[in-house]
Amino acid sequence: MHQTLHRIPVKVNPQPYEIVIGAGSIQSIGKELVKAGIRKGIKILVVTNKDVAVPYSDIFLQSLSESGYDPHLLVIEAGEDQKTPESVALIHDAAYTAKLERGSLMIALGGGVVGDMTGFAAATWLRGISIVQVPTTLLAMVDAAIGGKTGVNHTGGKNLIGAFHQPRLVLIDPSTLKTLPEREFRAGMAEVIKYGVIGDSKLFDLLETCKGLNKLSALNDQVLEEIIIHSCSSKANIVALDEHESGLRAILNYGHTFGHVIETLCGYGTWLHGEAVSIGMVTIGELAIQLDSWSKEEANRQKALLKKTGLPTEWPSINGEDVLRSLQGDKKVKGGNICFIMPKRIGEVEIKYDITNDSIRECISRLNYQVQ
Ligand code: NAD
Ligand code: GLY
Repeated sequence: MHQTLHRIPVKVNPQPYEIVIGAGSIQSIGKELVKAGIRKGIKILVVTNKDVAVPYSDIFLQSLSESGYDPHLLVIEAGEDQKTPESVALIHDAAYTAKLERGSLMIALGGGVVGDMTGFAAATWLRGISIVQVPTTLLAMVDAAIGGKTGVNHTGGKNLIGAFHQPRLVLIDPSTLKTLPEREFRAGMAEVIKYGVIGDSKLFDLLETCKGLNKLSALNDQVLEEIIIHSCSSKANIVALDEHESGLRAILNYGHTFGHVIETLCGYGTWLHGEAVSIGMVTIGELAIQLDSWSKEEANRQKALLKKTGLPTEWPSINGEDVLRSLQGDKKVKGGNICFIMPKRIGEVEIKYDITNDSIRECISRLNYQVQ
């Protein structure tokens, strides 16, 4: 049985939805769909991958059937290197075989890769059917499953193919993290730390005092839930204010601009997304110090917290010109100007488009020099 469920509204138009959080809640997926107004009797394509299917799919499908739904299961390969249009085609094939209709539903049961791909498949099947996100990694719980960004990678860069497609419901069961590899758990913590730096200094302070950030088994269940609630609330508020990223939402990309470069240039899968974001946060911190817009002391606090969490913080040594080329391929480039989310203080960042290539070169060459 699960404890009391925590509900966070995501106030987007025209269809707001809830993030439902609680240990054991995965067993109530069927009831939660009914509460979310999803019609009984419809076909549901549940997309997942083996690591998640083995421990959770039986109980998940059982709950759906008991609530009067008609579930179909698709188990796919879902590493970052599989986040491709070809994998989305497999989901479309399964939707065709299961005869999904406009009123049917897809559910993504898994990490951010399953969530992004299934969300995109739902956004494009029959010109858009409903999607529910049931994230099972910390990273997907606090970030990827919320806010409607869906998509796959292009050989030229991360997530270049995609669509905004908000879910009808996000159901988070923190107890599913018990089977998650510790490295993946730490990678998720990078996004949690991100929320602290971009707007929630109380969360940052809490994390600094927390024991066990680098090991789920050492982290108190209540503290874990508190961390997830803080993070989901931040994301829900930002998405409600700027659903389609006209401005504010870009701050969620703190650490991601350099993070995406690292993922792309080092090869998808070499660094986990959250690990690349961790290095990206340190890198943007270095650039901010160089430009006198952040104090060395606060940058050190950020680095110390990332290190305490067991996340990588060292630049992997990449040629400056390659970095610049890759940055130009970023989705947020405007008129050739790269969008950087610069830290001002812990709990506040600013969006900058006026960072010169020379400043970036100087920062990267210093980091490369430190690596040698
Ligand atoms: P992931 O989806 O690759 O999952 C990590 C690994 O954990 C996989 O091997 C998976 O099989 C396994 N796994 C998942 N849940 C498990 C569980 N409970 N028990 C055991 N194993 C489990 O990685 P991720 O970090 O969740 O997601 C990364 C992806 O999310 C990236 O592609 C990134 O671009 C995307 N992302 C999207 C958004 C967005 O807004 N849409 C935001 C952040 C990240
Ligand atoms: N993860 C960034 C966003 O959702 O906007």
